[in-house]
Amino acid sequence: CGIVAYIGEEQAFPIVLKGLKRLEYRGYDSAGIAVLNENGLHNYKRKGKVSELEKFSERKDTSGTIGIGHTRWATHGLPNDINAHPHVSSDGEMALIHNGIIENYDAIKEELIARGHTFQSETDTEVLVHLIDDIKKNENVKTSEAVRIALNSVVGAYAIVVLSKDNPNELIAARKSSPLVVGIGKHGDFYLASDATPIIEYTNEVVYLEDEEIAVVGRDSGLRIFSIQNKEKTPYIQELELQLEAIEKGGYEHFMLKEIHEQPRSIRDCFRGRLNVEKGWVGLGGIKDYEKQLANAKRIIMVACGTSWHAGLVGEYLFEELTRIPVEVEYASEFRYRNPIISEEDIVIAISQSGETADTLAALNLAKDKGATILGICNVVGSSISRVTDAGSYTHAGPEIGVASTKAFTAQVTVLTLMALTIARNKGTLKESDFRRIITELDLIPEKVSRILDKNEKLEEISKVYKDASNALYLGRGISFPVALEGALKLKEISYIHAEGYPAAEMKHGPIALIDEEMPVFVIATKGTSYEKVVSNIQEVKARKGKIIAVITEGDEQVKGMADHYIEIPETDDHLVPLLATIPLQLISYHVAVMRGANVDQPRNLAKSVTVE
Ligand code: G6P
Repeated sequence: CGIVAYIGEEQAFPIVLKGLKRLEYRGYDSAGIAVLNENGLHNYKRKGKVSELEKFSERKDTSGTIGIGHTRWATHGLPNDINAHPHVSSDGEMALIHNGIIENYDAIKEELIARGHTFQSETDTEVLVHLIDDIKKNENVKTSEAVRIALNSVVGAYAIVVLSKDNPNELIAARKSSPLVVGIGKHGDFYLASDATPIIEYTNEVVYLEDEEIAVVGRDSGLRIFSIQNKEKTPYIQELELQLEAIEKGGYEHFMLKEIHEQPRSIRDCFRGRLNVEKGWVGLGGIKDYEKQLANAKRIIMVACGTSWHAGLVGEYLFEELTRIPVEVEYASEFRYRNPIISEEDIVIAISQSGETADTLAALNLAKDKGATILGICNVVGSSISRVTDAGSYTHAGPEIGVASTKAFTAQVTVLTLMALTIARNKGTLKESDFRRIITELDLIPEKVSRILDKNEKLEEISKVYKDASNALYLGRGISFPVALEGALKLKEISYIHAEGYPAAEMKHGPIALIDEEMPVFVIATKGTSYEKVVSNIQEVKARKGKIIAVITEGDEQVKGMADHYIEIPETDDHLVPLLATIPLQLISYHVAVMRGANVDQPRNLAKSVTVE
């Protein structure tokens, strides 16, 4: 979900609306904006995209210089007009937006009903606004104090902003486990948002709220921050390095396409200052103090969700092979609920594009509580995960707006490669000549990615052939197995074609039953250790009349002759194949989704940043 709020001298509604559009990528099954003006508090909410809300609110009274807005990704209750935020108090004089989950909302709701409150929606959020309003009236305190008292009785996660009629010069915001950024405008105006994207066109001075902090922004009083225990804090103002171009489409039809094409640059950015081929050196400044501990680690656990989990699987192959340290890759949501065996000797690495995924954050905190060293690989600078970890490395891919992760994935894999190489170097598990060869090859990856992107037209042609498929299978072995998983995920999440990734040899144990002349089977069959084995797997598919779309090494005549379609990728070191083989699969998914008329950047039901468990 996304939060935006504004207070200042400008009209709030258009600023908040634009901000919501910028945040739509975070979740978007409904949207709403509340503004305050001399006629009172006006609350406009609509199921669907922000553009629906925009249409709905045309010619309505949206004037006012203070406002709050929200895009919602449903957790409690269906996506409809009523469940959309903002939610208002019984007298309609206080409005609130919320990201996260109030876990004890049932108990609070019962109590409030007993006290005469009536509820409109099925959301946990509505409970919060009634609670704050109740405290405010019964204890006769200021809104900010009522918020503070209310938050002390809430269990769960929240980022909230409160607007109230009797307080037209102030917005009150708070966070716990769900991000919130305060932008400090140049003219005494303030912006509040879930991330910096809606803010950067107005200011680059921001404050990231910490857990259990309340921010009060006022026209006269400026920014003040308190803990929920009521201790005043000095705001720590940071400068944003984000550029506006980075969050706009820049001539591409979709963010996803732009982000796919950015990969030569994003991978190069990820190397910057971390790789020196001439000197034969790699290093990651962020984890420098932990290099020794990593080299001596008995095991490493990686926790992640979604695409980041696939990056973790690539990491497992890289780490185990290059450093000989056993690695376990865990779905964060599974890990945290099965009383995992972790000790002070363990190193747990969280991989997360957003740095906000609730399950990953919780898994990490659990590992921390058990004494493990916790490291992070995040893309969003200043995100929650990057702040709770002992140390970590940013992926530096730049903002990723398309919900389906592309450049963040390859950047995660790049960081994991650099990490594995650093550890291997320190540990002495890699021969100098091999080390040199791999880093020389790594340095060539961005240029090779560009060469694959040049094949876009051919990939579009292939996509045409398979756009009406109902199913697809993706096969790979070794380090290319996670690439197959990621290829399948990309297709299913944006085109809604059912797709599965499988280790090529496992196919015989089930999925082979699905193969007929209708079934496209994408196979990563690059030259390298398991090449011959994959060739046999291709034969098995062909024998059942399946269609083969093979990702092959340039010049490989053997698989060319067997495949219905092939995509040649430049030769590289075995360890680096995922960085190249992923690219054509991303583009095919993209084209198929476009041809099917799907919403590529904002696929149905998905959210970019899942801050609920
Ligand atoms: C969501 C996104 C995925 C992403 C996953 C993990 O499901 O749609 O693209 O891979 O969350 O997100 P994270 O930010 O932790 O990498």
